[in-house]
Amino acid sequence: MLEVRIKRRLKVLNLHSYSEYCAYLFGHEGLKDEIVHLIDVVTTNKTDFFRESGHFDFLVERVLPDLAECLAGRHFTIWSAGCSTGEEPYTMAIVLSEYALTHPGFRFRILATDISNLVLAKAELGVYTNDIVAPVAPLLRRKYFMRSREPGSEKQRVVPELRRLVEFRRLNFMDSDYGVAEKADAIFCRNVIIYFDRPTQERILQKLSNCLAPGGYLFVGHAETLHDMNLPLKPVAPALYRRVDGGR
Ligand SMILES: C[S@@+](CC[C@H](N)C(=O)[O-])C[C@H]1O[C@@H](n2cnc3c(N)ncnc32)[C@H](O)[C@@H]1O
Repeated sequence: MLEVRIKRRLKVLNLHSYSEYCAYLFGHEGLKDEIVHLIDVVTTNKTDFFRESGHFDFLVERVLPDLAECLAGRHFTIWSAGCSTGEEPYTMAIVLSEYALTHPGFRFRILATDISNLVLAKAELGVYTNDIVAPVAPLLRRKYFMRSREPGSEKQRVVPELRRLVEFRRLNFMDSDYGVAEKADAIFCRNVIIYFDRPTQERILQKLSNCLAPGGYLFVGHAETLHDMNLPLKPVAPALYRRVDGGR
């Protein structure tokens, strides 16, 4: 898999072998310029609108009512950690905007981060083909997406009002400090830690737990388990944990 993906860079750089690529990558120029492209080609960016949709139902039906009291007078803060091309944070934006319609005074902030500049650029643009947008219910699609004016175009764009609700930022989970000033009420870190070995997963989850407000929720992918890890989290539903110390 790695060979196939890196081959794309060999082609662009007109190099003939992986050892030539390594020499370039670890040279002065490579470490400065190439590392970003390497990250772009090796990361797996599969995502969808309303992926693992039960999580969004849980968010609206359980998390928000549960936090309602302590949200009085402040924003609900949610973080899509490993946001890929934006489908996850825009799904949050749709779901929370709909919730706000029926809950006057409810305000929210969405932070979305990823290591790959390429996916972040696509996310910020918010342009998707019709098949990508298909999981969004027709009513919501009509409300939150604009069709291209080009005849026969297969593309739709997230409306500016929704795009403005998401702050995109580059963040590498391997960094020692995540630089997230405001503690999150909920973090979605789904289908990301699966790519790391167990000790690294635990370190990342520890840092994410530190970014959660007490009583805040961590959503992980359904294939990801935190079993036997020493973390300040307790399971509350499949692929869903809650920070336990200093509870609300
Ligand atoms: C498979 S996608 C998951 C997207 C979304 N969370 C979902 O579940 O649909 C994994 C994302 O994690 C990002 N990622 C991988 N390693 C990372 C790292 N060290 N720091 C931050 N993001 C990383 C990748 O760039 C990719 O966009």
